[in-house]
Amino acid sequence: MERATTVISPQDIQIQLDHCQAVAQLNARLPQPPLAFVDTYGCQQNEADSERIRGYLARMGYGFTQDEEEARVIVINTCAIREHAEQRVLGNLGALVHTKRRHPDQLICLCGCMAQEPRIAEKIRQSYRHVDLVFGPHTLWKFPEMLHTLLSHRGRIFQTADEAGSIAEGIPVVRQDQVKAWVSIMYGCNNFCSYCIVPYVRGRERSRKPEDILREVEELVRDGYKDITLLGQNVNSYGKDLAEPMDFADLLERVNAIPGDFLIRFMTSHPKDATQKLFETMARCEKVAPVLHLPFQAGNDRVLKVMNRRHTIAEYLDKIRALKALIPDIVLTSDVIVGFPGETTAEFEDTLKVLEAVRFDALFTFIFSPRPGTPAADMDDPMPREEKLRNFNRLVALQDQISEEKHRAYIGKTVRCLMDGESGDPDYPLTGRTPGNRLVRAAGPASAVGTFAQVEITGANKWSLFGRLR
Ligand code: SAH
Ligand code: SF4
Ligand code: F3S
Repeated sequence: MERATTVISPQDIQIQLDHCQAVAQLNARLPQPPLAFVDTYGCQQNEADSERIRGYLARMGYGFTQDEEEARVIVINTCAIREHAEQRVLGNLGALVHTKRRHPDQLICLCGCMAQEPRIAEKIRQSYRHVDLVFGPHTLWKFPEMLHTLLSHRGRIFQTADEAGSIAEGIPVVRQDQVKAWVSIMYGCNNFCSYCIVPYVRGRERSRKPEDILREVEELVRDGYKDITLLGQNVNSYGKDLAEPMDFADLLERVNAIPGDFLIRFMTSHPKDATQKLFETMARCEKVAPVLHLPFQAGNDRVLKVMNRRHTIAEYLDKIRALKALIPDIVLTSDVIVGFPGETTAEFEDTLKVLEAVRFDALFTFIFSPRPGTPAADMDDPMPREEKLRNFNRLVALQDQISEEKHRAYIGKTVRCLMDGESGDPDYPLTGRTPGNRLVRAAGPASAVGTFAQVEITGANKWSLFGRLR
């Protein structure tokens, strides 16, 4: 498979930082520092991208707001994974016509995965004329230059050409959290699951160099971050495209060797690429959290084949068994699609069987949404929506029951949790996460936020655990 990647040079990033400087000078003439609103949809990859957009904006002299009325720049970072996500964005974007009418100086930018879809870019061009700038994930690194051009010349800019995927190091970052951080280790996806838009909008797989990743993690640990998630659409194929190939398990081992008290998480893993070596590395590396998100999508082999997932359910279950043998308390989560074109209710019931066999701690469940341009969007889809909904509800009910049972098993145990925030609930003022990433609401002092604490679990429901700090 073709692996075109554009590596953005340090000089090119310096040019962008110079544009930041130029915009900062323009902004310095304003009576007060201008504000920007960055609104993020979609997955952690988009969260990580938004942190870079904020990094650039901060260098340009912008402060931040959540209120579109007072923002001079609005950036909407979009997700294209399901139709519902797109409709929400288009609805919110439509409402901004009125905001912009009240504030004609406002600049509205649309970026992310939707912006990379030609169909959407065209729609914005024709029907959303208040949008000034549209750019896809491939050109995020050029954001300062685009914004500078807009501020100097006005007009509209569309940077959505389907370029080769890029890798850019050295973009400034403003992180949203002080305890947890994302680190992208690779971009794009080569899998082309037949329902999925990601490979079309995010380009081919490309890996960051291990030394860049390790440096970023070291800095995060030095800055006090305690929970670091390595991100990629398919982390198990990390490193295959590097000049000196290395695999994901080796990368994990090297991140684990960084001194400090912190947890390492990663997502997402594809079952066909999750190896015994990965499981052994997880078991051996004390900082790697005992949790695996391993989407199986459907429980029936025929459906999996048409989805182009390239594994069988027996293979999936074998891998889960091997992992449980190595890490008995492993927390398992997964993604499932209900109502894939042609999936019958009998085939759907195979998905329920997988739930019974694995007993996931949590499940992310979706009803199939046709994405124009993907093979599944053109497949025959005879099942009525009511039947899909009925199946969906059965799935959710079964998982709710399993989640609650699994959560109840924690009651009476004391678990070392990372306390990550305050909830505002007087009974359980703190929030935290178990090593397996289960949500914990706990009684304890606010000073515990940002630390690992022993939490005695006293209650549970299907969403979370309750307890008190010891
Ligand atoms: N790279 C990850 C998934 C990213 S998308 C992986 O391979 O697991 C997150 C989830 O959205 C997918 O796992 C899938 O369950 C769901 N999804 C993707 N495309 C979808 C579609 N067209 N309709 C419904 N759900 C979809
Ligand atoms: Fe989409 Fe499949 Fe790639 Fe995940 S692995 S991003 S589901 S194409
Ligand atoms: Fe959505 Fe793009 Fe992530 S489509 S799920 S934001 S990679």
